[in-house]
Amino acid sequence: MNEEQRKQQAQIRSEEANIERIKNTSSEELIAKYFHAEYEPQAPDIKKARKRRKEDIQFHYDFSIPEDMQRIGEGKKFLIRTYGCQMNEHDTEVMAGILSEMGYESTNVTEEADIILLNTCAIRENAENKVFGEIGHLKPLKLEKPDLIIGVCGCMSQEESVVDRILKKHQHIDLIFGTHNIHRLPHLVKEALFGKEMIVEVWSKEGDIIENLPKVRKGKIKAWVNIMYGCDKFCTYCIVPMTRGKERSRRPQDIIQEVRHLVAQGYKEVTLLGQNVNAYGKDFEDIEYGLGDLMDDIHKIDIPRVRFTTSHPRDFDDRLIEVLAQGGNLLDHIHLPVQSGSSEILKKMNRKYTREEYLELVRKIREAMPNATLTTDIIVGFPNETEEQFEETMTLMEEVGFEAAYTYIYSPREGTPAARKKDDVPEEVKKQRLYRLNELVNKQSAESMKTYQGEVVKVLVEGESKKDPDVLAGYTERNKLVNFKGPKSVIGQIVEVEITDTKTWSLNGVMAENRVEVE
Ligand code: 5AD
Ligand code: SF4
Repeated sequence: MNEEQRKQQAQIRSEEANIERIKNTSSEELIAKYFHAEYEPQAPDIKKARKRRKEDIQFHYDFSIPEDMQRIGEGKKFLIRTYGCQMNEHDTEVMAGILSEMGYESTNVTEEADIILLNTCAIRENAENKVFGEIGHLKPLKLEKPDLIIGVCGCMSQEESVVDRILKKHQHIDLIFGTHNIHRLPHLVKEALFGKEMIVEVWSKEGDIIENLPKVRKGKIKAWVNIMYGCDKFCTYCIVPMTRGKERSRRPQDIIQEVRHLVAQGYKEVTLLGQNVNAYGKDFEDIEYGLGDLMDDIHKIDIPRVRFTTSHPRDFDDRLIEVLAQGGNLLDHIHLPVQSGSSEILKKMNRKYTREEYLELVRKIREAMPNATLTTDIIVGFPNETEEQFEETMTLMEEVGFEAAYTYIYSPREGTPAARKKDDVPEEVKKQRLYRLNELVNKQSAESMKTYQGEVVKVLVEGESKKDPDVLAGYTERNKLVNFKGPKSVIGQIVEVEITDTKTWSLNGVMAENRVEVE
């Protein structure tokens, strides 16, 4: 046995001893040991979460990778699997940035990776099930390759029940860290590399704002920019206020500087991100500055397209409508989650608006922006939703004329008030309601697509279509997917496309200067 093999054997033995030791320790002991002051060993607690203090937020502009970790990843590869929303996608870009600065290279091949991170989503149960499935699939690889580091991060790691389950049943995981701990990645990786025990670092504090984190962005055409973090709305079904902490806004100058930087790099579109972007600036104590003001300032920057997501109807104010109505790079598409068309259900959801107030907001938006496309999110089968209440969602869908909707069956989330409710709606009925709603959504989407027949639209060309490499694909200003034939040289540009055929979820067309039909 040579030196290298001896080292490997020793490593395997210590891994086995580690796994054995963890197996023999109760999860309560492990939680007490690892979570100490940094994690409260409880399920997300809405009462505690509501008691949020402003002074807890701190801004940090001094992120750097310690010198001894700057080359730790040389010759090694990382893979991050992302689940869930754009916020998670963007967190992945930050983690990729940090790992790259540590010398790691990215890979898409699971077997090649030296670090695998699962950036998880907790919004619905099926999102969590997918992750646990993946955790199970990775076990043989870890056994084959004991030096591999497998980490679980993102929203699920903020849930005590999830961490408990991993500690008890998935000892091949090396590292668990929370959404407020991303900037600690270099230290955590180092501990995982050199330590023998499973590293768990989940801060239950509400989260600071760390500027100047490195990022490796996924594309060169569209970019995401966080404008705020967290959510204080506490919709009764939603886990996000617990997993993402309280609302905290980035300073306007930091956001504007980031957008300017993206322009200089050639990006054509930015999407301003937050769980509830309309609450932007409400936490500032020294300035009166909201989302309308920010959009107005970004409107003046020379970037062709600006979007924002996600909106909450409650905080959508007149100033914002007035600014959006200026058009230009502020696009004619508003994603405005309504969740339900019934005022009674909305009350139970703690959405803080009624059906009538939502319709009034839509009326104001349409008055100021007559061409705006409206899309939404809807939950069916909230506990005890009656047939009549569901029908109200169907009629609201028609009344507003939503052109697309993300639709979900309600999924109880531990620690949220709605999850404690008894529910008399059978699963089959919920599925039926989702089916009926989706039929209506499809019909309205197809109808809205038909109105584009023969029209010329502006498309930001993102690349080849997923289905056919000879076809290019991109989105219109109002967020319609367009497939068309054209030269690859227009990728990254905004081109005019004449629509020749419409489908339920997309449009086909020919490039205005280059008339090549899509079959
Ligand atoms: N069950 C089902 N859907 C949910 N959403 C949030 N929480 C839940 C839940 N517990 C939906 C909402 C939200 C979208 C991102 O996910 O519609 O707008
Ligand atoms: Fe969840 Fe959105 Fe409600 Fe916040 S506003 S609690 S993120 S559904």
